[in-house]
Amino acid sequence: MSAHLLSVDNLSRDYVDHLFHVARRMEPIAQRQKITRVLEGAVLGNLFFEASTRTRMSFHSAFSRLGGSVCDTTGFTFSSMAKGESLYDTSRVISGYVDAIVMRHPDLGSVAEFAAATHVPVINGGDGPGEHPSQALLDLYTINKEFERIGKALPGAHLLLTGDLKYGRTVHSLLKLLALYPPMQITLVSPPGLEMPFELIDRAENAGHRVQQRDTLQADYSDVDVVYATRIQKERFTQEMVEGFSLSSDFSVDRAFLDQRCSTHTIAMHPLPRDSRPGANDLNVDLNGDPRLAIFRQTDNGIPVRMAIFATLMGVEDTFDRGLRDVGWKPPHQVGVDDALLTSGPHGQKG
Ligand code: NCD
Repeated sequence: MSAHLLSVDNLSRDYVDHLFHVARRMEPIAQRQKITRVLEGAVLGNLFFEASTRTRMSFHSAFSRLGGSVCDTTGFTFSSMAKGESLYDTSRVISGYVDAIVMRHPDLGSVAEFAAATHVPVINGGDGPGEHPSQALLDLYTINKEFERIGKALPGAHLLLTGDLKYGRTVHSLLKLLALYPPMQITLVSPPGLEMPFELIDRAENAGHRVQQRDTLQADYSDVDVVYATRIQKERFTQEMVEGFSLSSDFSVDRAFLDQRCSTHTIAMHPLPRDSRPGANDLNVDLNGDPRLAIFRQTDNGIPVRMAIFATLMGVEDTFDRGLRDVGWKPPHQVGVDDALLTSGPHGQKG
């Protein structure tokens, strides 16, 4: 792969396999059992010119757990870009300060333009409605781990992607990433006007996947292995679109949907944040505590995957686990209050 991570377009199957292998080796560090200082002395520039909580913190945490330190900036209004500075100038200036850069920006293609002006590795943390490659990688890593736990395999699986497939950059990157894998069935369900861009469907079909487009969740999805729900990206709508739009409750992925339309082994995923306000009809909070809800395992997996991304970009993937130390504090036994359900509930296989 190139020195940057800008788009899934630049990834090979070999690189992804290698990255996931490195991520597995990162898990004891991500899970607070071991400590490495392999990136000691390195500084990350975490530049978020668009709203973010988890992606920004997840990159920050991943770099810190490798022993590096982080400079953060958030928001457009307080940046020099608001004074008219070009991406080229910002890129060159920041490159003199830091050793790796994560950037999120509201404009499609902006992160690539920024990366073209530097030799410091740049990771696309989301460029408008374009791509979000690290999210797709952690999503696929999660699917693999969930499948391993419940005894399923990726080839031939049935994945349902729903919500705002037009502006949702995570599903764009995920669909591209799936094109590197053996044929699967992919069902795309979106409200009218928010369909997956045609060229991405075309690419998935050319890769051998069976892609079906629908406009309703009110159907039989009992053979679906993964439901991947996404938030309606209203911040990318025009004013007329916002005024004319409301998402029908028929699109809500909730407990009734999983119980009645899917199966006891269907996994529910979401890149988060989910819109939990009444009437939003996003992934429903009534699934909290249900072991099929994989969203927090997904966010947890973001740490080892992002650590692996830094390690491969910065050339420490072979050396980071030499001389690992035990943590010197007492980490929590489980991170979330419902985490125990995974191992003791009817859907887990570990006893
Ligand atoms: C997503 C994003 O920003 O694209 N969030 C994330 O990074 N996990 C999804 C969203 O905002 O809906």
